[in-house]
Amino acid sequence: MGMRMSVIGTGYLGSTHAACMAELGHEVIGVDVDPHKIELLSRGETPFFEPGLDGLIRKHISSGRLHFTTSYQEAADFANVHFLGVGTPQQKNSYAADMTFVRSAVTNLVPLLRGRHIIFGKSTVPVGTARVLQQLTDRLVASQDADSSTTDAWETSVDIAWNPEFLREGHAVQDTIHPDRIVLGVENSPSEVEDVARKIYAQPLAEGTPLLVTDFATSELVKVSANAFLATKISFINAVSEVCEASGADITVLADAIGADERIGRKFLNAGLGFGGGCLPKDIRAFMARAGELGADQALTFLREVDAINLRRRERLVSMVKDACGGSLHDARVTVLGAAFKPESDDVRDSPALAVAGALSLAGAQVSVYDPQAMTNASKVFPTLMYADTVWDALHNADVVVVATEWTEFKQLDPSEARACVASPTIIDGRNCLDVDAWMQAGWSVRALGRSL
Ligand code: UDX
Repeated sequence: MGMRMSVIGTGYLGSTHAACMAELGHEVIGVDVDPHKIELLSRGETPFFEPGLDGLIRKHISSGRLHFTTSYQEAADFANVHFLGVGTPQQKNSYAADMTFVRSAVTNLVPLLRGRHIIFGKSTVPVGTARVLQQLTDRLVASQDADSSTTDAWETSVDIAWNPEFLREGHAVQDTIHPDRIVLGVENSPSEVEDVARKIYAQPLAEGTPLLVTDFATSELVKVSANAFLATKISFINAVSEVCEASGADITVLADAIGADERIGRKFLNAGLGFGGGCLPKDIRAFMARAGELGADQALTFLREVDAINLRRRERLVSMVKDACGGSLHDARVTVLGAAFKPESDDVRDSPALAVAGALSLAGAQVSVYDPQAMTNASKVFPTLMYADTVWDALHNADVVVVATEWTEFKQLDPSEARACVASPTIIDGRNCLDVDAWMQAGWSVRALGRSL
């Protein structure tokens, strides 16, 4: 049977969670302080690109199971279960996560709650946050009791639980409806909170998704350690990629060979420009910062190297373009295909593709960028680059072409047609995603990270 719930924060995480909870049969109200976002969502439009999400939001606005509001009061009156899906970006002057939005969501919501409520935190937070939020919540409830003359306030109790989200952008809907695990950190009223979670996630649990119930700290650490592991796996293969470049070996064959070992696995061994986006880079930095605060900084010093290897790939690609241009980028016409941090997304946060395009431009190249979805976001972050309307416009007269995001549109480009557009047929595959033989047969000189072609 469907439950009522609110989702606070309607960014990538919150709006996906809200729509997917409606799809699982619940009645959901999405809350955000940004009226523009709420207006868009209420019309069934997402403020970002995520395959399948617009359709799902429209479906459940029509079914009556999904609403959006800027009013915390509405959320407090509507439901007894609340999800917290606000952002925790990197702080401007440090590696630590910025907890302003999480704190403000709790401070806005809790004083409005009457009766029995549970807040499930989904945001990625430093370990120790859930306990601090429970203390903050307890203080807010106590001061509301003290202020209130009504008797119902005496009944108010609000428990925090932690329920980290593991969705990948580009696959967010699928990952939320069919997660590969559900983690629940509980400290107060554990069996009651678990019962509620079991009702919320009845469908995935019936499909066999495991539910791991644990303490706050473990649930918070699961999320950051999963992302730290993924980042480490990518940087591992990119470090080996550097050795491949130095020795004449081929990273793609090597990745297939080591990935065939079940203990290693082939996923997340794609060598290239490395990781970016709103999660992996900031999560490993926040993890290091938090470990330092806890006196366990030595434990995670290797993540500095993971970060450094990752950023080095961007520099390496810029120097490959420079070499391909005969040693100087000055006035070279370079086409960068891709601006999003990965395909099927319009997210340019810490995007390796955009970082490379920007660095090439700052080094004097004339850079023409094309991305199937991320042009608007990219032009906000880097307004000085040239943004082409189509891939063909972007290729026009290029001296060097760089594939920086592995969109299907780029993988399926016809090398012969592409050759007719450019000034010089040199392409650098920054994501090891092209059919190298086909491009070479069409007369292209192909270079790639981690391979000697
Ligand atoms: C990640 C986690 O996968 C997800 O579980 C978590 O909830 C949020 O962070 P996301 O940031 O959407 O998800 O992207 P992901 O698919 O993990 O890719 C991250 C980055 O790594 C991208 O820039 C991608 O291009 C890069 N990557 C991925 C590689 O360079 N090589 C690979 O083999 C895989």
